[in-house]
Amino acid sequence: MTSLPLDISQDPEPGTLGAFTRAQLVRLCDVVGLSPADTETYADTLVEALGPSAQRSLALPPPTRTFLSDDHTPVEYSLSFSPGRAPALRVLIEPGCGAENRAENGRIGLEVVRAMARRWDFSTERLDEIEDLFFPAQPKGPLALWIALELVPGGVPKVKVYLNPAASGKKRSAKTLRKALRRLGHREAYAALPSADGHPFLALDLGRWETPRLKVYTRHLDLSAAEAGHLSRTGSGPGPAEIQEFFRTAAATDGLHRRPGLSCHSFTEAETGRPSGFTLHIPVRDYARDDGEVLDRAVDVLRSHGMDPGALVRSLPALTPRRPEDGVGLIAYLALVHQQGHPPRVTAYLSSEAYAVRPPAKLRRRAAAGV
Ligand code: TRP
Repeated sequence: MTSLPLDISQDPEPGTLGAFTRAQLVRLCDVVGLSPADTETYADTLVEALGPSAQRSLALPPPTRTFLSDDHTPVEYSLSFSPGRAPALRVLIEPGCGAENRAENGRIGLEVVRAMARRWDFSTERLDEIEDLFFPAQPKGPLALWIALELVPGGVPKVKVYLNPAASGKKRSAKTLRKALRRLGHREAYAALPSADGHPFLALDLGRWETPRLKVYTRHLDLSAAEAGHLSRTGSGPGPAEIQEFFRTAAATDGLHRRPGLSCHSFTEAETGRPSGFTLHIPVRDYARDDGEVLDRAVDVLRSHGMDPGALVRSLPALTPRRPEDGVGLIAYLALVHQQGHPPRVTAYLSSEAYAVRPPAKLRRRAAAGV
């Protein structure tokens, strides 16, 4: 087995970013029922992908002020639920988090993706084709490259790469995105998207996916439940009423006037130009007093879609000993996911809180939700 470029042959010392996140991941693997062998493989992969930052003491500030998570931990977990199956555990990582600047951050990110491609024998061709658009000499914007790993049974994860359409400047992001979509054979994709207040990410599935997707994220300021119900351009999947119901249960309000909502369209086949998937992301942490409240809402959402919330309930103590009521942000987003040909999924994004816990908001408890 080839090792990643920044191979850490020793386990990180206690009290380091690597030891902390590794232990969280091991406990989450147990929550979703991954085998001990898969758990070790995935925990080692996380530590390797963090590179030298894995050895960094948690007594020091975060390696960079990454916006991957609110407290700048360069790691975030997620649990994706489908009816009648065990939830899928994923981990999002910024491999270049220890870099001096954005260019180096991107270079390290690319190296780590390519090392994973060699290790697990998948092609990076689609990334190679658009590399110049997302990795200019002087990259701008809030990220260079993030990697998400879906930790499926068997020890070979599914790999997703997140790129920054604003790498050549915010003003050029629409153009960058259009070019990338065109190069990858999706000529009609850009025109199919809903109008938006920005395009924060382009994501590519690499590795062994049944149908690799290209995903375009759109940001929506002051999004209302009614508007959210009409964002999907897929022509299939949950209708406006179901999306609005999800919005209101997750956000406990009719409009997102603090942190904006995000939507995401995925494209799998180029013939129709139509997206085959739609996701609505609600940044629940900005619309609740505390995580107890968010957890209650998440449980409601899962139950109403016929999914067992058990793993989500168990995931919180796997992350932290603190009580959900004593902070907000452990569940960062709740998302309703539609992919053509599959039943709706619900995803909960889970923070590491390696560096900080956001105190409960000064909202009246459960006021807006009316529960
Ligand atoms: N932390 C960033 C945000 O809140 C980026 C991010 C991390 C994100 N995980 C996410 C965005 C999940 C949407 C969904 O926007």
